[in-house]
Amino acid sequence: MNTSFTALLSLQVPIMQAPIGTAAGPELAASVSNAGALGSLPIWFLPLKNVSSMVTATMQLTYRPFSVNVRADLNQQSHVNAAVQSGASLVHLFWGDPTPYTAAIHDAGAKVIVTVASVDEAKQALDAGADILIAQGWEAGGHVRGNVTTMALVPVVVDIAGAVPVLAAGGIVDGRGLAAALMLGASGAAMGTRFVASEESRAHAGYKAALLAARQSEAVYLVDLFDIGWANAPHRALRNSTVRAWEAAGCPASGSRPNENEIVATRADGKSIERYSVVLPMVGASGNMEALVQYAGQGVEGIKEILPASRIVEATVYEASACLSEFRS
Ligand SMILES: Cc1cc2nc3c(=O)[nH]c(=O)nc-3n(C[C@H](O)[C@H](O)[C@H](O)COP(=O)(O)O)c2cc1C
Repeated sequence: MNTSFTALLSLQVPIMQAPIGTAAGPELAASVSNAGALGSLPIWFLPLKNVSSMVTATMQLTYRPFSVNVRADLNQQSHVNAAVQSGASLVHLFWGDPTPYTAAIHDAGAKVIVTVASVDEAKQALDAGADILIAQGWEAGGHVRGNVTTMALVPVVVDIAGAVPVLAAGGIVDGRGLAAALMLGASGAAMGTRFVASEESRAHAGYKAALLAARQSEAVYLVDLFDIGWANAPHRALRNSTVRAWEAAGCPASGSRPNENEIVATRADGKSIERYSVVLPMVGASGNMEALVQYAGQGVEGIKEILPASRIVEATVYEASACLSEFRS
């Protein structure tokens, strides 16, 4: 299945594992890339001194390209430099103006991916020289940049992107979604929540189980609920006990929420996690995992099994190909 995205990066299939925060480490990114798709290694939350070793660890697991993900709003030029000097060939910028980053990335011989959520952001990224755009719709899990659905956003971004490949993100969990994205003019799909529910993801088993059990109405858009560590950043997550208690209290503002400042869990490194923290439940953490933020997109109800990442890639392509052949006949 060839598109301008696969041609640009010499991939076998038009799928990207979207960055999923701390749930994606070298094993997930490399498994996806080894399956012929594009893996993604978020590095924005790492201490600078750990960036190089994470990139190197991923390169030891795959010879194929993968992208590193940084936050444009955090002045992460040093993270970008460390990643590129360690061999990363693709830098993916999220949440903010990519312009200050792109020239240095290109000068270093790497390509730039930018997540956008509106036509204005797409224009900004194209002016900055982005090589690939990801159009993230409102259905998406994790931090949600805009307020337009994937179905409405992708075609208009495709129309202004010209030869620059556009990936659709938000609510896509299977081959039907990939086929639909291609029909909208996208050159592929970026899936986040689907890969949280993979064997290689570092998400806690309880979080993965919650994804399998969730109804789509439980993947709720929260303007600023889980804001400790990243304020003023809307996100989509499952309606868990923390969300329910906050809703029952009348959705009070930050500072007046139920059990504000309560420590509900402990990370593998011994650091405390507060109830309204941005930190997701990871393998190795202990405590009340259910109370922590469980990011999920609206496609969550279509996820039925925890699978190896390579199997997710294969099944998605297989199903998309079947959909597209049926459409042609
Ligand atoms: C658990 C989780 C963590 C995320 N963390 C990041 C991140 O670190 N960087 C980023 O650019 N996007 C992040 N996102 C957003 C995804 O990259 C992507 O846009 C989104 O998952 C697409 O929607 P979907 O989950 O419905 O597939 C995250 C999403 C999830 C579900």
